[in-house]
This record gives sequence, structure tokens and C-alpha cells, in this order.
Amino acid sequence: LNIINSVEEQEKLCKRLTDDNIKISLIPTMGNLHLGHESLLKASINDDYRIVSLFVNPLQFNNYKDYKNYPKTIEKDLKILKLHNIDCLFMPNEKDMILKTNHDIERKLPDFANILCGKFRKSHFQGVYSIVKKLFNIIKPQKAYFGKKDFQQLLLIKYLVKECFKNTIDIIECETIREKSGLAMSSRNNKLSVKQNRLAALVFNELVSLRKYLKNNNIDLFPMLREEIIKKLSKQDIKIEYLDILCRNNLNTPTEQDIDINIFVAFYIGDVRLIDNIEI
Ligand code: PAF
Repeated sequence: LNIINSVEEQEKLCKRLTDDNIKISLIPTMGNLHLGHESLLKASINDDYRIVSLFVNPLQFNNYKDYKNYPKTIEKDLKILKLHNIDCLFMPNEKDMILKTNHDIERKLPDFANILCGKFRKSHFQGVYSIVKKLFNIIKPQKAYFGKKDFQQLLLIKYLVKECFKNTIDIIECETIREKSGLAMSSRNNKLSVKQNRLAALVFNELVSLRKYLKNNNIDLFPMLREEIIKKLSKQDIKIEYLDILCRNNLNTPTEQDIDINIFVAFYIGDVRLIDNIEI
């Protein structure tokens, strides 16, 4: 595992690889690797040269405390990367990634970035867009891997690739990995107590029941069902931030004819915020 901290050095290495016709794959992360990340590493196993980036991006946190408390487990991460035979770890510092760069912070993102998480986490997607664009420019990958758990992020990255990279980067979408209880894997699960972890899984159970119901019934019923679910979960101290059904290709409001629909949820258990989505 080749560990690189300098942007310049990473650019040089990637240029050399590209000149030698070696195809580069990028798996961007913020560290604290779990089985969800490992599924991305596994998905890339047959690729030529695999780079994992590890950078906790301050631009995408709307809450300073959340940023400061973001779990850091570098020793464990290194073990996982070696286990999966990753070629290179790019771990830049904040100064190079943030201060020395012009950011597209004011850049107008597509409308779908203003709903769901975009509505509740101001400037979050601006931060994601800006840092992933920077990573793509440094590394110039042919493929990049993202999980479907962050579904809105995935759509935004596809938009970025179309807008700024002429669709020359293949975005590989990986399925959400879940704990036995159904709870989607997330670095933030670490902050839940055992009891809270069980509560969080209740939300997944509700998504599954909702999916079953909506498959067999009219989606007009959704607003009523949503109110029932929110009420039911609030009795368990689970606070739903949003619960929506939207077309999965563009996050438009679905009509009767639409078939590609996902259920999206964000919720709080204590002060831990979690998100999830499933296909109907
Ligand atoms: O999904 C993440 O971990 C982050 O949003 C990403 C894509 C690494 C950008 O900082």
C-alpha cells in the first residue's frame, strides 16, 4: 500500500499511470471504514490500479461538532486497505485540499440537490460536489465507486461527471450493506448505544412494510401512511426529519405511471442523524 499525502505527488503518480495506459479506479471515503466501504473495495477487485482517498471534508459538514466528532480509525482502516490489496491511499491534508483551492461553493447545483438532505443540511452538497470534483481532477480516474445508501449524493456525482468530465468517468453504484437487523451500515452507527441501534432498525422495518403496501396500493395513500409512521416512531423517540417517495432517476415527485420509485428517509436517534433509502 502506497500512502500519499501530497497533492502534487498524487497528481504525478496518476499522470504516470495514465501515460502507461494503466486504468485508475477511485474509491473516495472519509475513513472509518466498515463493511459498506469494504463492499466497494470488493467491487473494484479486478481493476488495474485502485486508489482509496481518505479525507474528512469539512466543507460538507453543516455542523462543526459533527465534523470534529467524526470517527477516526486510521490503524484499522490501513489494515482493511491492505487486506483488500488496495494499491494506493491518498490522504491529503486540509490545507492543500481546502485553502489552496478555489471552490465551487456558490455554484448552482441542480434542483434535486435542494430537497431531502439538501433541504436540511445547508451547503452539504456544495461541499461534496466541490471536493469530489477536486479528487477527480487530481486522480483522473476511469472509474469511481459510490454506495447507494447516499443516493442523492450518487445522483449529484453523476451530474458532476456529465457537467465537468464529459461523462468520461464510469460511476459504479454499489448496493447498501446492512447489519443483520436491516440497519444500513454507516460510520455514524458507531455512535449509537445497543438500545439505540435496535431503535434505528425499526425505521428499516417501517420502510419494508411501506414498500410492501405501496407495491400493492395506490401511491396517493402515501401522505396518510407517512403521518402514521412518523407518529408511531416518535413514540419510540425516533424523530423523522423527512420521509418521501420520489422517482429514483431524477428525484421528481412520482405520478401513477412512474415505476422507478424509492423511499427516502432521514431520522434522528438522540443527536445521531441517519439516512436510508430502498427501492419500491
Ligand atoms: O460518501 C462519502 O464518504 C463522502 O461524501 C465523499 C464522497 C467521500 C466525499 O467527501
